[in-house]
Amino acid sequence: MLHVSETVKIIGKMRESKDTYTLEFKWDAPAVPGQFVMVWIPGVDEVPMSLSRIGKIKAITVKGIGEASNAINDLQVGDYVRLRGPYGNGFSIKKSKKVLAVAGGVGVAALIPAIKETGCDTIIGARCEGEIILDDVARKYSKSVWTSTDDGSRGFHGNAVQLAKKKMALRDYDLVIGCGPEVMLYFLHEACKENDVECQLSLERFMKCGAGVCGCCMMDRLRVCKDGPVFGTEELDGLSDFGTRKRDECGRIVDLR
Ligand SMILES: Cc1cc2nc3c(=O)[nH]c(=O)nc-3n(C[C@H](O)[C@H](O)[C@H](O)COP(=O)(O)OP(=O)(O)OC[C@H]3O[C@@H](n4cnc5c(N)ncnc54)[C@H](O)[C@@H]3O)c2cc1C
Ligand code: FES
Repeated sequence: MLHVSETVKIIGKMRESKDTYTLEFKWDAPAVPGQFVMVWIPGVDEVPMSLSRIGKIKAITVKGIGEASNAINDLQVGDYVRLRGPYGNGFSIKKSKKVLAVAGGVGVAALIPAIKETGCDTIIGARCEGEIILDDVARKYSKSVWTSTDDGSRGFHGNAVQLAKKKMALRDYDLVIGCGPEVMLYFLHEACKENDVECQLSLERFMKCGAGVCGCCMMDRLRVCKDGPVFGTEELDGLSDFGTRKRDECGRIVDLR
């Protein structure tokens, strides 16, 4: 697949929550739902961000958690930023499939292009009402958008996986697509197996090159940036690192639970 490195101009900026912004830019690079870009902030870092919009106008939706993500969120309309990509495999969804999208937190960003293409049912989970994002965008394309919050401040009182289990029991889904914290995805994968539903989940690992060269994003034998970030049921079954451990920026193994 073609990768491009280009400086793009920010043409739109929307606040999604207290710490999360969507930044829009014109960029012709071809992309499929679930792919990501490497965003370079000179003097700070270069970090992976999923494309929350594809087409001629693209977007990223960024939660400010540290130096690089906060620096991206400081960019204003008219500023320029350097991107590389799009990278990764993306989701592979046959038109005939009945799909349920399940998102946790800012993970919904990676799912929006697939929700737009399929019009699938969608669950967006977050810790509290103020952290539910992009539900207005999902509602434009999905007939059914359900929300869940850990504290019960909006929608279903509980987490997105508990709600997904209820929906899977009521409707015959062929495929679940998901993105969010890895422990959530681990339990989503288990729930899909219990309900005999295929899944494709988008995972995160610390990344440097984003292009399959440096090896710092390895999960067992697979590179998350190149073989993923989207992995299917059988691949996930064979990954002993999935939901259990990851490597930090120094290469140290960190337990996820
Ligand atoms: C393929 C891919 C797609 C991504 N898409 C998005 C996206 O669409 N929107 C978005 O906001 N983020 C996304 N991320 C995560 C994003 O890349 C990180 O949040 C960012 O690199 C953090 O950099 P920083 O310098 O701001 O924070 P750092 O200073 O690196 O980290 C600040 C703190 O947060 C912790 N941390 C770092 N990364 C993560 C993480 N992924 N999850 C939980 N804790 C973390 C660190 O351990 C540290 O304690 C994606 C990551 C990958 C691999
Ligand atoms: S980030 Fe370099 S191989 Fe994946």
